Amino acid sequence: ASLADMPEGVPASHRVQDRTAVPEPAPREGFRNTPDSDPAIAANRAWAAEIVARMATSRRGAETIAAHTVSDEAVLDQRIRAAAAAAAAWRDLGADARAEILHRAGDVLEARRAELVEVMGAECGKVVEQSDPEVSEAIDFAHYYAEHARHLDRVDGARFTPVGVTVVTPPWNFPVAIPAGSTLAALAAGSAVVIKPAALAERSGAVMVEALWEAGVPRDVLTLVQVSENDLGRQLLTHPAVERVVLTGAYETAELFRSFRPDLPLLAETSGKNAVIVTPSADLDLAAKDVALSAFGHAGQKCSAASLVVLVGSVATSRRFRDQLVDAVTSLEVGMPWDDAARVGPLIEPAQGKLLRALTTLEPGQRWVVEPRRLDEDGRLWRPGIREGVQPGSEFHRTEYFGPVLGIMTAETLDEAIEIVNAIEYGLTSGLHALDEAEIERWLSRIEAGNVYVNRGTTGAIVQRQPFGGWKKSAVGAGTKAGGPHYLFGFGTWTDAES
Ligand code: ALA
Repeated sequence: ASLADMPEGVPASHRVQDRTAVPEPAPREGFRNTPDSDPAIAANRAWAAEIVARMATSRRGAETIAAHTVSDEAVLDQRIRAAAAAAAAWRDLGADARAEILHRAGDVLEARRAELVEVMGAECGKVVEQSDPEVSEAIDFAHYYAEHARHLDRVDGARFTPVGVTVVTPPWNFPVAIPAGSTLAALAAGSAVVIKPAALAERSGAVMVEALWEAGVPRDVLTLVQVSENDLGRQLLTHPAVERVVLTGAYETAELFRSFRPDLPLLAETSGKNAVIVTPSADLDLAAKDVALSAFGHAGQKCSAASLVVLVGSVATSRRFRDQLVDAVTSLEVGMPWDDAARVGPLIEPAQGKLLRALTTLEPGQRWVVEPRRLDEDGRLWRPGIREGVQPGSEFHRTEYFGPVLGIMTAETLDEAIEIVNAIEYGLTSGLHALDEAEIERWLSRIEAGNVYVNRGTTGAIVQRQPFGGWKKSAVGAGTKAGGPHYLFGFGTWTDAES
């Protein structure tokens, strides 16, 4: 057998399934994507309304976090040592037994979908439209890595040995899917995990971890810690028992981690500054919708979000696309996730620093097509903004803002547009809207980004179908792609089976 024998996933039939019915356990062999909840089904709207009604006052996950907050060096050291001690038994359990527990984890995550959606709304301001697919993605990671683990054990002529302890340091913007994905990958490969959820998303991370414990992952094999002090974070990363660190976060955070320990074995997906190119051959209706949602879903707080749109030729010189984009964007309701109509939720914290500047000031030559507007007292809710006249080399061209502001750039030709995009030092996601095959080929062969999307938005990568990971300054360390066939390799080493 080889890894190429991994069965093909059935394409996700998204937005089906009545969430009030008892979920079927996923099949134990092969892989298929988990569908999101279809709001066209009346029962699902009622299901979502019940969750939304609980959001504003939900404290879900708080007790678990309180019980796992570590504020003492000796206690942290003891937790990491316990994880290291538990790792051998987890490895020796074998891939099939681990896969069974991971499949169960997928089923428990499905059974706890409503709780996960509730805590993500309560803690991080995610609207159901954004958080429900995130639960599907977490479930996909469980089943997908479970099956891949089995294949690791069956590669002819080579033996895979997992690392002992992996530290997982996820971000706050995908507070369930990203911590789940990193954790499940390490566990599937046979490594023990110490996870430190992001401070702004600790309860969401805790509910995800509870689900994995409930599925049968031993508590010392999956250790939850919340550290209150920077020094303890450093101790966690530099502990001699830690053999891998998975980071999803800013490029600067990866550099900070490396400054703690230069030889840190890091698997990091870092920042992005992502652009969509729209050519005259595009379906402009589709392009306007995709750009609006890629830019402003979860208020633009995604590493994968579109932050620039580059209009080519007649798309740049006529008003049609701009007008459609303005209509699409101004029709997006902004509000807290417990306001039923909200499609764009709040920023995780009041806008500050470079994001506040990008929401309130223009560089020379730029003008607002839609001016961002603060809608609340403290600066978390913003009507999204669009600026035009963004020049190559300007701050807006180069900078990741992680918020609800999009810049329009223009180019005479597709080649010029590609040059504008490739001049950016990051390379995470990139989009092209064009129906001309030669244009698509040209763009695909030249664009410098880890995830490339043709006639589709730039966010919401689907496990197996769009393995996710960056290029250039969007990845640090061994940059393999999450939700793809090689990701588990990052959690161990290969040796000849004979040796
Ligand atoms: N995997 C996330 C996305 O594709 C970041 O949007």
